[in-house]
Amino acid sequence: MSLRVEEAGPALIPVMAALHKMSFPRPWGREELAELLAMPGAFALMGFDGEAPCGFILMRAAAGEAEILTIAVLPDRRGAGLGNLLVEAALRRAQDKGAEVCFLEVAEENAPARALYVKTGFEVSGKREGYYSAEEGAGANALIMRRALAKDGGGTGCAQS
Ligand SMILES: CC(C)(COP(=O)(O)OP(=O)(O)OC[C@H]1O[C@@H](n2cnc3c(N)ncnc32)[C@H](O)[C@@H]1OP(=O)(O)O)[C@@H](O)C(=O)NCCC(=O)NCCS
Repeated sequence: MSLRVEEAGPALIPVMAALHKMSFPRPWGREELAELLAMPGAFALMGFDGEAPCGFILMRAAAGEAEILTIAVLPDRRGAGLGNLLVEAALRRAQDKGAEVCFLEVAEENAPARALYVKTGFEVSGKREGYYSAEEGAGANALIMRRALAKDGGGTGCAQS
């Protein structure tokens, strides 16, 4: 695999919608993704294997805080490091935009995603019982995870919190 990550603008929303649909029980449609991407501070990165788009991350960084809104990698391309690449690149970008901390929500039972986030420096900072709707995951609990970002920008460093 020859993996790389690039900025993904509105032109790639149909690709994001297709990738999302293959990864979540309640897929986000093109309009929903377009609205999220249009929020202040929102950006998306697309991961490619050669010329093939294989995954993306949608993040928002505003007022010193970043949030991972979603991340998805094609089922047959998982476990090859693309998720890790997308998270690290998005965190660097958020840091460049002035974010000092990043948050996310993940289903408690989503072991692959939780492992990815632990590997990229996140720690559990809270829990929401029965957070997800029936169509999203039958009332599963959500964990809130947090990672502090270095204030000096440009690096991959993770400040102690
Ligand atoms: C979560 C997801 C994005 C991970 O993408 P990926 O490209 O497979 O991740 P990587 O290959 O970079 O793996 C990074 C780390 O995550 C962990 N991980 C990945 N897949 C795993 C699995 N099936 N089981 C356990 N840990 C796993 C490992 O720690 C791995 O590091 P390692 O390979 O050095 O051990 C992917 O599984 C996915 O798209 N899932 C469906 C959508 C989803 O749940 N998104 C998150 C919503 S919060």
